[in-house]
Amino acid sequence: MGAEALLRAGEVVLLVDLRRGKRHLITLRLGQAFHSDRGFIPHDTLVGLPEGVVAVTTRGARYLALRPTLAEYVLEMPRGAQIIYPKDLATIALFADIGPGQTVIEAGLGSGALTLVLLRLVGPTGRVVSYETRVEFARRAHRNIEARLGPDFPLTVRAQDVYLGIEEREVDRVVLDLPEPWRLVEAAAVALRAGGLFCAYVPTIPQAQRVHEALSAHPAFALAETFETLLRPWNIAGPSVRPAHRMVAHTGFLTLARRVQPDAGGRPGTAPPDASEDADATDRPDPEVA
Ligand SMILES: C[S@@+](CC[C@H](N)C(=O)[O-])C[C@H]1O[C@@H](n2cnc3c(N)ncnc32)[C@H](O)[C@@H]1O
Repeated sequence: MGAEALLRAGEVVLLVDLRRGKRHLITLRLGQAFHSDRGFIPHDTLVGLPEGVVAVTTRGARYLALRPTLAEYVLEMPRGAQIIYPKDLATIALFADIGPGQTVIEAGLGSGALTLVLLRLVGPTGRVVSYETRVEFARRAHRNIEARLGPDFPLTVRAQDVYLGIEEREVDRVVLDLPEPWRLVEAAAVALRAGGLFCAYVPTIPQAQRVHEALSAHPAFALAETFETLLRPWNIAGPSVRPAHRMVAHTGFLTLARRVQPDAGGRPGTAPPDASEDADATDRPDPEVA
């Protein structure tokens, strides 16, 4: 096991109320305290301790102290715009195939949740360029990212309307989380390198349909696909083993397509076959695709 880094002043720490499950992000500052309705915890009592300790408030409430995972961090960090939830961030990471050294164009920056994932995946040799029209959102996102990554990260923020154009060329990925991504299909075709990938996240099916159809009709895009990701937590406590009563039932739809040579795209039938088309005579779907 690697050496255990002790909690330091200036670090972001997640406190989890062990009775109620409520979560709080705090930045450890000497002389300050975390206050709850059940007493307080001086930050000084956490500095120098290992992660995973239980801190007890002045009135006996118990809080678990951990460095937050990225998923925990984005859920608790301050928000201006609505974030993309971790289940969709995880899906974007693999299906949009974000990786080290890539140049990724993003719009809009919002609260910076997706940006944090993109920055982690492209690494120090990659680059993220994020378009955002609202200066106050860009400032908050920058603070969120800096609190997690420190002052150095390969992000360029363009405070401009992305619908007016994407300046960059030969980019690897275009990832969009804004209301009308179909307006950027042509600009993305120009900005992306051959083989690059377009990914749009939208909350409603009319939006998903529109961007999907725009990609399917464009001669420089192929393999358009649209799907959503459902994550159902389970309650596992003794004999009570069942789906949780509550879940985040709907977030959004992802639409992806590959940038291809101009005469290779824009044709119907290039999308992966629907699982139901593979059903056998008994109409029972293949378990691998069910
Ligand atoms: C839903 S939020 C993005 C949230 C972000 N993906 C996250 O995970 O935190 C949408 C953002 O797009 C920005 N936006 C909307 N239209 C835009 C445009 N035409 N150009 C640039 N940014 C735009 C909005 O200001 C907003 O911050």
